[in-house]
Parts: sequence; structure tokens; C-alpha cells
Amino acid sequence: MTLRERIEREIRERGPIPFSCYMELCLYDPDAGYYARSREQFGKAGDFYTSSDVHAVFGRLMARQFEEMWRVLGSPERIEIVELGPGRGLFARDALDWSRQKFPDFFRALNYTLVEASAALREKLAATLREHVQAAKASIVGDVASYLSTGNGIFFANEFFDALPVEVLSSHGSMRVGWEAGRFVESFVSASAAEMEYLDRYSIHPEEGERVEAGLEAQRWMPRIAAAMPRGFVVIIDYGYTREELLAGRHRGTVMCYRQHSASDNSYEAPGEQDITAHVNFTALRAAGERAGLECLGLVTQAQFLMGIGEETQFSDAFEDARLPQERAKRALQLKHLATPVGMGETFQVLVMSKGVDTEKTAGLSGLKFVSRF
Ligand SMILES: C[S@@+](CC[C@H](N)C(=O)[O-])C[C@H]1O[C@@H](n2cnc3c(N)ncnc32)[C@H](O)[C@@H]1O
Repeated sequence: MTLRERIEREIRERGPIPFSCYMELCLYDPDAGYYARSREQFGKAGDFYTSSDVHAVFGRLMARQFEEMWRVLGSPERIEIVELGPGRGLFARDALDWSRQKFPDFFRALNYTLVEASAALREKLAATLREHVQAAKASIVGDVASYLSTGNGIFFANEFFDALPVEVLSSHGSMRVGWEAGRFVESFVSASAAEMEYLDRYSIHPEEGERVEAGLEAQRWMPRIAAAMPRGFVVIIDYGYTREELLAGRHRGTVMCYRQHSASDNSYEAPGEQDITAHVNFTALRAAGERAGLECLGLVTQAQFLMGIGEETQFSDAFEDARLPQERAKRALQLKHLATPVGMGETFQVLVMSKGVDTEKTAGLSGLKFVSRF
């Protein structure tokens, strides 16, 4: 049975389903969902690039920041990094390799847990991180519930929140996806109290012809993170917006699909064959985090964040192992793509939160050098 047929059956049994259910089935159906298949999703052979696909310098700069966070926490004997949705694991590999090479004291204290829902990707992770798993430095789990931190931690998520299912709302209410005459059809029902509250507090009420999303599943993740981490930091990197940007008329209706490096806004084409994403609402994430006991340290662009981390060492993390002039030139272009406004640097934002850490100490974090808003 194809995924389309499976979804059709689900709709026949339950009636039209919320868009979040449709998105969940398309991406995470254990047999035929987009992330369950063994076909490559990432990089040149896949459908999209993430920062770790550009170059290892992304993981290396982040390792530098994690080491600094560990020192801010008082260089404890043990620190846990928990990465949510690590995909094929390039980030973890780069961050672990660089920590071992550059920050041996931090590396000694470090334990790295990868929380990946897709069984196919967990297999790939085991291969990518074999060395670190064998050395009991890294472990791979399918669910954050099976992870329990005992002390100091850093939760990290790159392009995890944009992959979580969202509700879609229009001026006619909350969207339902049905199946009629051989195709998916959209209809609307009255928005739920939770959806209305989300729009009131973090978003806007859509006008005729407009659509907005409510990231209710993303909201549910923040208390889970806070509960699993007695003390430490949360670093969330993603593309998204704040409520102010929504009010200014930008980023309305951000559900997008990616297949073989082309973007489309038709979520009903080829279920399970294309990635479906939605921009992250940082105002909503921050509020959910604060309700769960986290403190917001700032929201900066990825360019500002990486500039702040790499400035002092003149980005030696990027160039150290590039000897030839053409290698150095290539590395400079990759760094520019990651850390300046021309590439991913301005599209992606970094939300940093903390729990149980003295605010005076967190003020000096190099990634937050350019915090100016939020
Ligand atoms: C867009 S990919 C990002 C991958 C990686 N962080 C990177 O930057 O290349 C999103 C990842 O989140 C995972 N994911 C989604 N929901 C999850 C959940 N509830 N628990 C764990 N992983 C999840 C997906 O399987 C996928 O690997």
C-alpha cells in the first residue's frame, strides 16, 4: 500500500484530518514516511542542504561555543549534549571530532546523546558515529523520554523544529484534509481554543485569503526539554520569525516542500516523497520555554552567532586543515555561506535559553556578543 493509499484509508476511517496529522503521516509514517525511507534526504544527492552539509566548520564553531558553555557552568566533571533530530549525524561527528582535537578537558567530560525518531536514520547515525559510540562517548536513542539527564546539559537542535507538524489556519478556521474524487481536498472547521490562544498571543489572525500556522507540537517540546535538563543551555537553530515580523506582514503561510533541491508549496504532491516544513515562530518557542522555567538569553542571526564565536580566533577552525590556496579559497566561500548575511547566515536564527545559570556569567558567551533584540 502506498503512503497516499494509507492516508486515504485514515481519512475514510476518521473523516478529514487536521493538517498536522497529514504532515505527521507524510514525514514520519514508520513504513513509508519521508524520514523513514532509506533514500538520502540530505546534501547533494538528497533534497536539501543543512548547515552541516556545507562544511564541518559549522560543527567546529559550535563545539567551541559548547566548550565555553561548559566553562560557564563551572567546568563540571560531566556534561551532556542532547541533539534533537540529528538526521544523518554530520553535526555530531564534526562537533565531537573537533572537541577531541581542540578541547580535551571538555571532551573528557562530554557525553553526547542523539535523539532521532527515524529508525532508518538511526542506522545511518550508528555508522557515521561508530567510533564515538564504541567509545561510549555517544549514544543514539529514538525518543527523548528514554533520556534522563542527571546534571549539566546542553540541548541542541538544528532544523528540528521546522520539521515538526503544524496546524494550518485561515480566516475560515482550522484546516482539515479530506479525500474526494481521487484527490486531497481542504476544508475548515472552527479553530480550537488552543489554536485561538496561539494566534492571540504569538501570531496574527489571518485575513481572507491568508494562511498562518500554529506550531502546537513545537510548543509541547519546550517543557519536555526543560524537564530533562536540571541545569544548562538550550540552543535552537532554525529559519523562522518573531511575532513582530508577522505583524509587519512577513512570513505568512510558510508551509513549504522540498524535493531534489526545488521548492514547492503543494504539500499534496507525492506524499512521503518530499520534505514538508514550516517556519518556526520564535516568539511562541520562547514563551513556551519561559513557562517551563527556561530563561531567554537572546535571539541572533546565525551570521551574528557564528561571527561572535569565530571572530577572536579569526576563524582558524575553518582554515586550519586547508593548506593549498584553492582549498583555502573554497573554505572561505563555505564560511561566507554559513556566517554572512548572503547565504544561510541571515535566514537562520539562533535562540539561546538557559536554566539555573547565573545571568552575569552567561552575558559573556561569545555567540551572544551581537545580541540586540528579543
Ligand atoms: C530537517 S531534519 C534536520 C537534520 C539535522 N539536524 C541537520 O541539520 O542536518 C529533521 C530531523 O528531525 C527528526 N525528527 C523529527 N521529529 C522528531 C522527533 N519527534 N524525535 C526525534 N527526531 C525527530 C527527523 O527524523 C529528521 O532527522
